[in-house]
Amino acid sequence: MDSEVTLQVDGATHHVTIDTRTSLLDALRQRMGITSPKKGCDHGQCGACTVLVNSRRVLGCLALAVAYDGAVVTTADGLAPGGDDAHPVQQAFLDNDAFQCGYCTPGQVCSAVGVLDEIERGWPSAAAADVAADPELTDPEAMDREIAERMSGNLCRCGAYKGIRAAVGQVARAGGAVR
Ligand code: FES
Ligand code: FES
Repeated sequence: MDSEVTLQVDGATHHVTIDTRTSLLDALRQRMGITSPKKGCDHGQCGACTVLVNSRRVLGCLALAVAYDGAVVTTADGLAPGGDDAHPVQQAFLDNDAFQCGYCTPGQVCSAVGVLDEIERGWPSAAAADVAADPELTDPEAMDREIAERMSGNLCRCGAYKGIRAAVGQVARAGGAVR
């Protein structure tokens, strides 16, 4: 069975008719030609397909596109405000050598934007049950633990985790205002 789906992706409107079983990731990549989100495992285990939907991070391979009809989707390509200016998280990845082959990087960057937003909103994590009440988050080690926990759904075969945590921490220390 086919369904008509409209998505706002990185500022552009896309209308597609797709099989109802199509994942958001496949709709983006195969029907809309938006290849920034990557297919790693296609099973919700690697995070390479992470995009922001209405500002929250979503695994595109586990999401059905029809469930997001009308949604605003932001990929790593759409984060930068335009021109040559990188988004603060993208710049931090560059500053900290937070990638090697780059395959996981679009998902890492989108996830990082979501993580920083979640920390700012005081959403709890397994590393700190009540981050809003935890003054230790000003401590670099505590922040590093938080970031490692919250980014744990994004795998990197190149093992660039040290740089990734440093990049996210850099933006967090700068205020984390990246929505
Ligand atoms: S491709 Fe979606 S989590 Fe791996
Ligand atoms: S930079 Fe290569 S998989 Fe992460």
